[in-house]
Amino acid sequence: MPKWLKDAVFYEIYPQSFRDTNADGIGDIPGITEKLDYVRNLGANALWINPCFDSPFKDAGYDIRDYKKVAPRYGTNEDLEELFREAHRRGMHVLLDLVPGHTSEEHEWFKMSGKAEKNEYSGRYIWTDCWFFGIDGHPYIGGECERNGAYMLNFFKCQPALNYGWLHPKQPWQDAVDSPNALATREALKDIMRFWLDRGCDGFRVDMANSLVKDDDENKSGTQEVWRDVRAMLDRDYPEAALVSEWGVPEQAIPAGFHMDFYLDWMGNGYNSLLRDYERAGMNVLSEGKKLEDRSYFKADGGGDATHFLEEYEPRLRSIEGKGYISLITCNHDTPRPAANLTPDELKLAYAMILTMPGVPFIYYGDEIGMRYQLLPTKEGGYTRTGSRTPMQWTAGKNAGFSDADEEKLYLPVDRTPGAPDAEDEMQDPDSLYSAVKAVLGLRHAEPDLQADGSFRVLYARKGEAPLVYRRGDLVCAVNPSKKQAEIPYGELESFAGARLGEQLLGIGGSVTAGAHALVLGPQSFAVFRA
Ligand code: NOJ
Repeated sequence: MPKWLKDAVFYEIYPQSFRDTNADGIGDIPGITEKLDYVRNLGANALWINPCFDSPFKDAGYDIRDYKKVAPRYGTNEDLEELFREAHRRGMHVLLDLVPGHTSEEHEWFKMSGKAEKNEYSGRYIWTDCWFFGIDGHPYIGGECERNGAYMLNFFKCQPALNYGWLHPKQPWQDAVDSPNALATREALKDIMRFWLDRGCDGFRVDMANSLVKDDDENKSGTQEVWRDVRAMLDRDYPEAALVSEWGVPEQAIPAGFHMDFYLDWMGNGYNSLLRDYERAGMNVLSEGKKLEDRSYFKADGGGDATHFLEEYEPRLRSIEGKGYISLITCNHDTPRPAANLTPDELKLAYAMILTMPGVPFIYYGDEIGMRYQLLPTKEGGYTRTGSRTPMQWTAGKNAGFSDADEEKLYLPVDRTPGAPDAEDEMQDPDSLYSAVKAVLGLRHAEPDLQADGSFRVLYARKGEAPLVYRRGDLVCAVNPSKKQAEIPYGELESFAGARLGEQLLGIGGSVTAGAHALVLGPQSFAVFRA
């Protein structure tokens, strides 16, 4: 386990929209380097950068044409190496985005694999052996290449599936997981990882990590096997390199070899119940100005509680404790910004909780200032995700300080709605969302109990009740998202033996008081105490 993960706090950067230094309207790698101090100053000490490689950008860069080349619109490989160096100089780490399951249809490997004559790449993707037949119920494309066959898709039409084999091959054209073709793909993946690790990258966020072996079983044992092999390489040659999976099932991803697995926003799951438990038919409802039914736990008048989250989270946490981490996110580039439905006061409490939980948290760029979800036409395959991908708002100046380009040239429009936040303003205001996030992260770095490995125990959570009290090592965190004051006698706190709580280390929002006999949680409040 890389030691630096113990106190890691990640900041996810969508490179298109972070900072443009050459006035072409799109963010770039030098822009990320320029803003490292901003990220460090907030209290995040690691980055995850969405794919920044050569691509036709039909899926915002998740359709890679050349894994070993930085997309010219973001700069050069040297720029990226410079970013690694500058990050390391500040004690920070950088994860790149690894897309192992598919390439762009414009990747050289794919062009070669579509040729009629057999060649080194004929088995790199999944192809049938006759143009007339599809792929056993999986999405496929026929009629595009010279080769007599149809090929399988992994996501969009532009993303043919790489061949890691089938768990139980049934057709002559299906390779086994340990077949030469599948093993060659695996080696090609390791080669890409080595390429960037040797140039200073600190690991990878892995896209659709569970999707590699086809017709896998429920436990994804074929795909797990592939990752265990990859992890063995890291343990041997790059023991400080970290892997985080887009998997969403830590009890599978951690045994597979990932150090961390994201708790993703899936409608109806535990994480979703915290921030996004509202109606969002294609998210268009957000535009209509009608009052939404919002049961999110952090919605002050939502009437929610933390029990649904805990029922799912706790068993998962126990199953991987000591072996890996769950990564809670504020949001990501696929998920509606939490500011879509939560006010800055509600967001303060939500982030305070997320950032005081075990494991390794991720902040999506701009969430720390409450950047809003925008209703926009689709860009680069973003669809409803586009609204969460707009330019970072640095200042109140031209293009919000994102770019010096003419406004029409911007990758996506800057939020111009009244009251749109910007970092400069938020940093000056001690009551801002930014200041709350910074204060929580400051405490997290100062108190090992609040970091990745600190123990976690629920002291108070009840159906239909807003307050949540949890213990992290020798600290106690208490949150009350509702507008009603709540009083919890110490006797009601699960296995809390102390006579009363100790010193208060942090308070966000309303006041929380450790009285003589009870913990009194004011409206919309969060606090951390010594036990
Ligand atoms: C998940 C990524 O987060 C998403 O943005 C992308 O479209 C798909 N995987 C396909 O790579």
